[in-house]
Amino acid sequence: MWNILRFDELDSTNAYAKRNSSLLADHTVIVAQTQTAGRGRLDRKWLSQKGGLYFSLLLKPSKTDFLPNLTQLMALSVCQTAQNLGANAWLKWPNDVLADGKKLCGILSQAVTGKDGFEALVLGCGVNVRQEDLNAAGQPAVSLHTLGIETNEERVLQTLLETFSAGYANVLQRGFETIRPDYLARFPYLGKEVRVKNGAEEVRGTAETISPEGKLKLHTPRGFMEISIGDMMV
Ligand code: BTN
Repeated sequence: MWNILRFDELDSTNAYAKRNSSLLADHTVIVAQTQTAGRGRLDRKWLSQKGGLYFSLLLKPSKTDFLPNLTQLMALSVCQTAQNLGANAWLKWPNDVLADGKKLCGILSQAVTGKDGFEALVLGCGVNVRQEDLNAAGQPAVSLHTLGIETNEERVLQTLLETFSAGYANVLQRGFETIRPDYLARFPYLGKEVRVKNGAEEVRGTAETISPEGKLKLHTPRGFMEISIGDMMV
């Protein structure tokens, strides 16, 4: 199902996928051992030293209704993979995977558009696998190794691709509701006070649920709100 392109070093697997999207087939995976210009959300730098898994999926689905939910499927797949390896990992809405209160994985999804609109989705994923020192990550981060789990990037990638593939068709056709129970089971913030930042805007409230569309439903002093994008903090 997947055509895997492997590189020792790239600027960024997402940038490579976007540059070459018209030449590459649907279901191409671009993997690099290191990235010289790895990027995170909000154009943050993503530390990309050897020992981490850095890859992007290039997807060209004919149905585009549920693209944001594919990012949530990737986060869920990483979380399940880490748990199966023995990590006490969980999800922080919408797409972060944490363990020990720190970031184990980050996901950056970017759409490629042309003159006729949507052309491809690039789903970039960075998983901390064997790194020993993540102090330069710019945020609290943890790797499978620092959690005491010994594995390697290739094994994590293979398991992840299998797990993601198992949910892909369902999410593409019917969206978040197909993974909602599995996602909610790994989302420990229900009933907790959270803040969600989107640019300069910040909303505070109690996390009520994740809606069937994958939005975060908050109970705020001004009533219920459903949020589709933002950075959630506790
Ligand atoms: C985040 O800010 O949490 C998202 C981080 C995404 C990093 C991955 S590593 C592979 C791919 N290539 C990039 O430049 N970024 C993503």
